[in-house]
Formats: sequence, structure tokens, C-alpha cells
Amino acid sequence: MVHAGSSPLTARRDRSLKGRVRVPGDKSISHRALIFGALAVGETRISGLLEGEDVLHTARAMRALGSQVERVSEGEWGLRGVGVGGFGAPSTPLDFGNSGTGCRLVMGAVAGCPIVAGFDGDASLRKRPMQRVLDPLQRIGARATRVGDGGRLPLELRGAQDPIPIVYRTPVPSAQIKSAVLLAGLAAPGETTVIESEASRDHTERLLAHFGAEVKVQNDGEHGRKITLRGQPELRPAPVVVPADPSSAAFPMVAALIVPGSDVIMTDVMTNPLRTGLVTTLREMGAGIEMLNRRSDVGEEMADLRVRTSALRGIDVPAERAPSMIDEYPILAVAASFAEGTTRMRGLKELRVKESDRLAAVADGLKANGVEVEIDGDDLIVQGRGRPAGGGMVATHMDHRIAMAFLVMGLGTEKPVTVDDTSFIATSFPDFVSMMRGLGADLS
Ligand code: S3P
Repeated sequence: MVHAGSSPLTARRDRSLKGRVRVPGDKSISHRALIFGALAVGETRISGLLEGEDVLHTARAMRALGSQVERVSEGEWGLRGVGVGGFGAPSTPLDFGNSGTGCRLVMGAVAGCPIVAGFDGDASLRKRPMQRVLDPLQRIGARATRVGDGGRLPLELRGAQDPIPIVYRTPVPSAQIKSAVLLAGLAAPGETTVIESEASRDHTERLLAHFGAEVKVQNDGEHGRKITLRGQPELRPAPVVVPADPSSAAFPMVAALIVPGSDVIMTDVMTNPLRTGLVTTLREMGAGIEMLNRRSDVGEEMADLRVRTSALRGIDVPAERAPSMIDEYPILAVAASFAEGTTRMRGLKELRVKESDRLAAVADGLKANGVEVEIDGDDLIVQGRGRPAGGGMVATHMDHRIAMAFLVMGLGTEKPVTVDDTSFIATSFPDFVSMMRGLGADLS
């Protein structure tokens, strides 16, 4: 059903996709660059910042906490930070809109400061679990003085007067939990340690080192890591260059694979190995994806990705790969529906607590478009039969990635695919529709 105020859109099969594009800056790094800039003493310059709604909420939060934040020109931002532990109490609750990352990371940063701050967000964010972040922050000495049912927003956090350094093993592989603990640990004396059983994205660790903190990363077990931070560093301003977001590149990438005769280049895409699970998986499925011009001059690896239409086959995607492609399952499931054979994506429990219950939203969207799909425990199983029928209406549940994934699907299906609401695409990829049209997509 299409609601008043929502903006539906229909994707139709038309011509091949051709061209060279730069998708916007990485969302994870953009949030972190703003937060670190606000905690550094002196002026930090950021270029290539993603100016999506999620990141803009974080920028406003940094301002409300006392940092000077200025937009110089498109993607160019400057911050004058307040120093570790130096945030001031905001006069009104901080609003993070749709963004779990912004909210949870800033909860960590506030937990190390002797202030009280309110945290809130939209209807989607109000449904998402916050207790997983409150638990370690309380051990550091912060207190949730008000919290919604089931550990949800809106909540109020009183930061620690004397933050305690802790050793914390994350209960699920989550860069957000890890980052919240490390950000709080910045204000604690001595060493704060986070142990994760599966390595999650390491942008916080990389930026900590970039801003002059002492951080040690060791392997822990077969897939895990142990991260140790020495607290109370003086963070030094350091310029941040934000590469293009691989999680946004995922959409034109799969579009090029499934629309016949396509050939698309995406420039400057971050290829940090903890973010490239989708490329690995699509290549195993038979995708022609080349990494050109590989380089690593901005503290993160990047490359230009050339993608050409390819015949895909179904595969088994192991659970341990999930952290390196956690946001890419909606679009991978779409790719799997164009493959020949069965694709089983294992270990997707965390998808249930994203911007929507993505496991259910993906399964429903595929079914609405004639694809045979099954949820078996935490696994998603898609039966690929080459080219799905399409013709369905997809409910996006305030989730940008569900909207983009199913618009991509409609570029390749026999009949058009409509999504009920595209407004949330602006949280992460404001130019998605115009960029896809520029490549030749029929979206109207
Ligand atoms: C993110 C971590 C992931 C991811 C999110 C961005 C980050 O969440 O889904 O979009 O920037 O740290 P979890 O840490 O909850 O898995």
C-alpha cells in the first residue's frame, strides 16, 4: 500500500547501463570523521563527506555537543573540536533520525563525558535495540537515567564522571558496539579492550590511529580480533579524505550485472577487506568485477570497479562472511534471484534489527515479484531461475536499502517493480535516482 506523504517509484527494464560514476562518500567513515573531529583539539578538515540525512544528523549532534562544525563547500567540512571528554550538555535531545550508527557511536562518545544528553530518532530507530550499547557503557560508568521499553529510544544518558577502562567481549559482531566502547574508552585512564569473535569493520581503529591515539589490533581466534586502546590521548586534528561507499556502490554494481549489455565503472570505491564481502560473493557467483587502479593513499584501500553483465549461479554464502557484507544482503538477495540455482545466505540474525527487519522485508519483496524464497532459521534461501517475473509492489518499511535493492531488481525483471516509498534513500545515497538514470535506468 502507498501511504499519503510517501514517494513511490517504479523501475522498468529498458536499455543497458553504461557509464562512469562516483557514488557518495562512505557513511561509516563520514560519521566517524565528524565525531573524531569534534573530539580533537584544533581544526579538522574532511573532504568527500557523505551529505546524506544520517550523517547530517551526526553533524548537528556534534554542534549541539559544543563543537564548531562548518560546511565549506560540497563534501568539504571543517570542525573545531572540544577535546576528549570535553562535550557540553546539549539543551535539547539529540535527534539521529534513521541512523543507528550515528546514535550508538555518539552514545559512546557521550558516555565518557560528565554530562547528561537525550537521544532520540524516527519510528524505525525507536524500534532498534540500544541495550547492547548501554550494557558496556554502564560498565564504563555511564548511567541510562531514562530509557524506552525494552532498552529503546528515547533515552537519556548520564556520562561517567570518572570513566573506567574495561575489557569487553561483544555479544554479536558489531562495529557499532565496538566503536561505542572505544569512543567511551578514550576518556578513561589506562587500556580499554574490545574482543570480537568475528572481525567487523575497522574504521574506528584506523581513524583513532590517524588522529594520534595509541591503538593495538591483534588477531583473536580464527576470525576474531582484540583491539586495545590507550585512554586519554590528545587527539590531533588530521585531514580525512572519505572514499566512495562500497555499500552504495553495491546497487549500481548489481544493476550492471543483471541488466543485459551493461558496462559500468565506479570510481574511488573503498576496498577495505572488512567491507568487500559482496564483491567476493558475487565473483563466486560468476560476476565479472574488475578492481582497477588499486591504491591506499588515504588510510583506506580503494579502487575503481568495472562491472559487466554476467551470468550468475547460486552459491552457499558462509555465515562468517556476514560482517563484511552485513548491509549488502538485500541487494545480494536480488542478485541471487537472477542467478541459476539456489543461493543460501547463512547466519543473518542481525538483519532482523537493521533499519527494518530486513530478513522479512527481503523475503516479502522477492515473493511479491514471483521469486521462490524461504527463511530457514537465520538463513535466507533464494531459488534463482534466471530472470524473475517482477510486477510486484514492495513495502520498504522506512529502509533505504530495501528501496534501492528493489528498484535495481525492477531494472532487470520481465515486468516493472514498484517500491512504496523512496524518501529514505536520502539517508545514505541522496543522488541514487539521478545517478541511476544517468547510467540509463528507467525510474519513474
Ligand atoms: C556500521 C556497522 C553495521 C552496519 C551499519 C554501519 C558502522 O552495524 O550495519 O550500517 O558504521 O559501524 P552493526 O555494527 O550493528 O552490525
